Amino acid sequence: MWLFAFFAIGILANTINVTQAFDYKCNLTAKGSPKFPESFSFGVSTAAYQIEGAWNEDGKGESIWDHFTHNFPEMMDDRSNGDVAADSYHRFDQDLAALKELKVTHYRFSISWPRIYPTGDISSKNQKGIDYYNGVIDKLLANGIQPLVTMFHYDLPIEIQKLGGFANPLIINMFVTYAIELFENFGDRVKLWNTFNEPFDYCKPGYADANYPPQVHAPGVADYLCMDHSLKAHAATYRTYRAKFYEKQRGKIGLTLSSRFFFSHTNNAEDISRGMQFNLGFLGHPIWSNTGGYPKAMVETIQSNSLKEGRISSRLPRLDGKWKEIVKGAADFLGLNYYTSRYIRRASKPMGESPSWERDYDSDAYPDETWVRGKPEWLYCVPEGLEGILKYIRDEFGNPEVIITENGWSDDGDPEDDDRIYFIKAHMQAVLNAANDGCNVTGYTVWSLIDNFEWQKGYTHKFGLYAVNMTSPNKERSPRKSAKYYRNVIETKTLPSIV
Ligand code: BGC
Repeated sequence: MWLFAFFAIGILANTINVTQAFDYKCNLTAKGSPKFPESFSFGVSTAAYQIEGAWNEDGKGESIWDHFTHNFPEMMDDRSNGDVAADSYHRFDQDLAALKELKVTHYRFSISWPRIYPTGDISSKNQKGIDYYNGVIDKLLANGIQPLVTMFHYDLPIEIQKLGGFANPLIINMFVTYAIELFENFGDRVKLWNTFNEPFDYCKPGYADANYPPQVHAPGVADYLCMDHSLKAHAATYRTYRAKFYEKQRGKIGLTLSSRFFFSHTNNAEDISRGMQFNLGFLGHPIWSNTGGYPKAMVETIQSNSLKEGRISSRLPRLDGKWKEIVKGAADFLGLNYYTSRYIRRASKPMGESPSWERDYDSDAYPDETWVRGKPEWLYCVPEGLEGILKYIRDEFGNPEVIITENGWSDDGDPEDDDRIYFIKAHMQAVLNAANDGCNVTGYTVWSLIDNFEWQKGYTHKFGLYAVNMTSPNKERSPRKSAKYYRNVIETKTLPSIV
């Protein structure tokens, strides 16, 4: 009841249009129509390991994140893990109540591979895991909320890791087998699929920097293999769906990439282009560019550095012939996770260790000191970067459909989270400006619906529109001020002023 009052007061305050309480730099000037198109989809996002808990229940197998948090608790700021998290496995109804209150049109969540195949392999199929996601999907649809399902959000079955995980090309077939299981069980109702969430963000920390599981330190080699195998697994899944499922199921399949946009203090277009090629372009170029294949700057630099290192071939795997064709065009939409941007210039000294992505990149990416910063050291509010990246996709990638699959702000958990509201408003303005300028962007998704396990930050950084009482047995969810604002956006399809 109080919740209703909370929203009602907020909406009233917005209509009165109280003058903005304070000046803030996290904003963006509006260009064009103030209204999102009728068909635009508004959502929120979560991921299995970050919210579900129930890490060893109902037959679920161990994932690399279970193993990592249990064996190396010192790697998390608060020594925490996802054993219980927000307990969404038992409390999806509480999440659903929040989704209904927000009036979102889609919900992006991920399926835990080791819940479906506890050992990663089809022989271990676990019906209870399938039942759980059937329940989630059915309840969403019964409430008019479209599921956008991510197949993989970092929680690889440990048994696959024992074979080398993403460094072993076996992962391609194993992933396709798992994806087929998902299509067969859920594809009659799920029409929006994400294969992988942000390959760069599990490949680099997991296989180069060794601060994420599987803690492999083989920079410039294993991270590139991981990227290559993720890309091929994605494309093989896409082709399988089109050949075997599309006719009946009529769904769309996308890959979610994360990227920053780049600016240059000296207006150096080459520096900016290099930044884009080494980030969004790494997996974006092979799928969406005219020519296909890895981006030129990466191919040339990594080949040349590899030869200098005394190797006989490039550390960047080959993407030519049959695979190049399979990959090119293998997506119905680009899922974009956008959080922040940087200025860029060519490095004046060797970057990182040799070899590594940093050494190959040979660029210095740095924030502008005037940008407003969030709690994480990397997160600055740069909405013009989102507008820029959407236009880059329009111009360089042939204007494919884009769904913003994540965008969000983290803080200490204040219920009066004005900073998050400014961040969301400014970034949605960027999306609207881009849409008004011909970009084919059809959806926006806030990270996150609820507070959750923020990987190495544990529970110390809060991204939720809803707070979760992590110490209470019932894990109550309660809306922050931003939840009210976002609902107001969804209801009006505009960006009301902030009060
Ligand atoms: C990831 C999320 C993460 C968020 C905030 C994204 O890159 O997909 O899992 O919680 O960033 O760090």
